[in-house]
Amino acid sequence: MIFDYSKYPKESAEPEAASMIQSFRAIGYNIQTAVADIIDNSISAGASNVWIEFQWKGSDTWFSIKDDGCGMTDKELVQAMRPGSRNPDEKRAPKDLGRFGLGLKTASFSQCRQLTVISKKESQDKALWTWDLDFVSQTRNWHLIRYAPPEFETSLDELSSGTIVIWNNLDRVVKNMQTEDNSALDKFLQIMESVKGHLAMVFHRYIENRTIKLFFQQREILPWDPFLSDNTATRKFPEEPLLNGKIKVKGFVLPHKSKLSENDHKNAEGPGGWNGQQGFYVYRNQRLILAGGWLRMFRQEEQYKLARIMVDLPNDLDAEWQIDIKKSVARPPHMLRDQLKAYATRIRGNAVLVYRHKGQVLQRKLNTASFQPVWNAKIQNGKRYYEINRDHPVIKEIALEGNKTINTILKLLEESLPIPLIVLNENEDPDSFKQPYEDSRKNDLLEVLKLTYKNLLNNHSESQAKDKLYLIEPFNNYPELIDSL
Ligand SMILES: Nc1ncnc2c1ncn2[C@@H]1O[C@H](COP(=O)(O)OP(=O)(O)OP(=O)(O)O)[C@@H](O)[C@H]1O
Ligand SMILES: [Mg+2]
Repeated sequence: MIFDYSKYPKESAEPEAASMIQSFRAIGYNIQTAVADIIDNSISAGASNVWIEFQWKGSDTWFSIKDDGCGMTDKELVQAMRPGSRNPDEKRAPKDLGRFGLGLKTASFSQCRQLTVISKKESQDKALWTWDLDFVSQTRNWHLIRYAPPEFETSLDELSSGTIVIWNNLDRVVKNMQTEDNSALDKFLQIMESVKGHLAMVFHRYIENRTIKLFFQQREILPWDPFLSDNTATRKFPEEPLLNGKIKVKGFVLPHKSKLSENDHKNAEGPGGWNGQQGFYVYRNQRLILAGGWLRMFRQEEQYKLARIMVDLPNDLDAEWQIDIKKSVARPPHMLRDQLKAYATRIRGNAVLVYRHKGQVLQRKLNTASFQPVWNAKIQNGKRYYEINRDHPVIKEIALEGNKTINTILKLLEESLPIPLIVLNENEDPDSFKQPYEDSRKNDLLEVLKLTYKNLLNNHSESQAKDKLYLIEPFNNYPELIDSL
């Protein structure tokens, strides 16, 4: 139906400038994610160097991010300062890190009340504009002012092109602080250290492949590689393409503590600690968006802390993965969850072995032993279905070949899986599901475990049988039970 707008009266309802900007301030950035968002723009602008600087002056402290990227003309800068400067549906160049046309403004306003941008395109005049939230509040107008703090007026002179973003009046981090207050200064410097750590993590692949150099108060930031990929004791698993190769996953199991020096062990831990940093590392165009966590598929637990999985996304799946403005949230689409979960289960199974110091045994066996899930996700003629794994040792034991009744029952279960209901409930409340063999059902688990162990002992030694159990679902999730056998 074509809607006839001309038939109806109209009234202008422009956003109210001051309150709109106030809402931008509440999007939920912290200073680490805010700075990273500004550097995204530098990378998209083709910069080779980014200089991050600050000067402590109590509540007058400033913070700046300068790059030698392509820069902007006066007209481009005004457009860039406009909230919603680009349509999120627009197709972006493959290497562009932006999406919403908001980051420069929302990230800056989350931290400061005065945002100045000075920019220069090669062989063109410098452009400069400032958003001052106090001025916007006073005038209730979306008006920029052509102003730059005097000490920054010459800041791009040594570059042929580039941009500097300056934050003044940092009312979130240094509000009411006195320059002479040493404890306030200490606190501020600690926050600055955490910003540096965050950048070393988020942009580690850009730093590693020498696309960009980041300087923090003139010191070059070294990359923090969550996978310790240079360490020979790190297990690297084959990369697996998903969605016809558009997405790539690659698992790593980090070395056992005994294989690392104390310093390396501490350094590899990362900002969230060993337990908090296990899980998926989701990258969008090589820029880290999510650092750890199991995407609501599993809980983070001590025995899996050595598992870290790299997930590489391009920048044209943002809507499917629900990438947010801050570029700090990603959720896999339903159609990929099974595959990601199956891959992660394998890596986690291996991580437990290394954690339990079983790694050496495993490596020898890896070629022969394969992981045995209970369910296999399958596709035939473009249709998905789920099949109970007939090779699973527990199933194999009961579904002795030719046992028609058991096979009929298995088929019945497979054919009548309440998939729509499960999907619906999962969408409504993903945390309401019972975990496998939770609480009192643990005894049932122990019973099957013991039985399977006993059967395995018929043609395996004790340690061989246990190694097998580590790779059988759901026993792989309970290494402590296997160890206690
Ligand atoms: N350092 C920079 N150098 C050159 N151009 C820049 C720079 N920073 C911003 N821009 C321009 O300003 C525009 C707006 O930036 P902003 O961060 O607000 O949105 P975005 O990067 O397009 O999308 P997102 O909201 O996802 O960050 C960019 O698209 C880019 O054209
Ligand atoms: Mg941006």
